[in-house]
Amino acid sequence: MATLVVVTGGSAGLGAALLETAPGDAYRVDVSRSGSAPDGGSHLALDLADPASWDVFAAGFERLVDEQPWERITVIHNAGVLDPIGFAGEVDGDAYRRHVLLNSAATQVVGHAVLAAIRELSCRRELVFISSGAATNARAGWAAYGAAKAAGDQWVRAVGLEQQVRGGVKVLSVAPGVVATAMQEQIRTTAERDFPGVDRFRQLHDEGRLEAPGEVARRLWALLDDPQVGTGTVTDLRER
Ligand SMILES: NC(=O)c1ccc[n+]([C@@H]2O[C@H](COP(=O)([O-])OP(=O)(O)OC[C@H]3O[C@@H](n4cnc5c(N)ncnc54)[C@H](OP(=O)(O)O)[C@@H]3O)[C@@H](O)[C@H]2O)c1
Repeated sequence: MATLVVVTGGSAGLGAALLETAPGDAYRVDVSRSGSAPDGGSHLALDLADPASWDVFAAGFERLVDEQPWERITVIHNAGVLDPIGFAGEVDGDAYRRHVLLNSAATQVVGHAVLAAIRELSCRRELVFISSGAATNARAGWAAYGAAKAAGDQWVRAVGLEQQVRGGVKVLSVAPGVVATAMQEQIRTTAERDFPGVDRFRQLHDEGRLEAPGEVARRLWALLDDPQVGTGTVTDLRER
């Protein structure tokens, strides 16, 4: 077993599908609050919206990296929330702070920790940030969410430039499209007052246009094998 796959938010939705469809012999690790160890793997119970968890993640990841001479290490930072959906200045302040800490701050801090732990290795190494179309389409009610995804994309572009100079890690951002997960259920049940664009998502659901998490996950793994997709690339899977 020489492949290490770490997925944050691997307990549900797209993250769980990414772990299920990971290369056959991989040692799989889920990093989430409520998950459990996947078959042939382990679980790191962390609340990544809590800054105290970031050092715990870094130490846990370093331990995994040191466990054996891996041939491939892939980390997918997929954990994310939409909560609280609503207008800035109206939603609950504590929930807003947790959102920013998880979606914006943890992305960069966890990303840094991953790069620090694998920078001296020469095996195949990939770090993937799960983004969203909301990075480029501003939507009322999703301000912090869109800002976080846009920040993640720009972080990937800049870190990609760095890794071309030295490092050699393939760092990618991938927007998965509209995927049938709990997050989409939450969107559809949001009041129009908090999310004026809700109708489009109800319609996509009614028309059966949500993508299955397993299918999206398989396309993401195929993207990682595509030599044309170089470090620093920001990809929308719907455009492939
Ligand atoms: N679904 C879509 O249509 C869609 C579209 C574009 C982008 N995305 C992105 O895709 C990613 C996955 O979304 P999804 O649709 O699969 O959502 P989901 O079904 O709600 O799953 C979210 C995952 O994130 C984890 N998570 C949430 N808060 C966390 C925290 N504080 N600490 C650690 N883990 C946390 C959850 O685990 P625990 O609750 O166990 O902690 C869960 O595993 C997100 O980054 C999302 O922004 C989704």
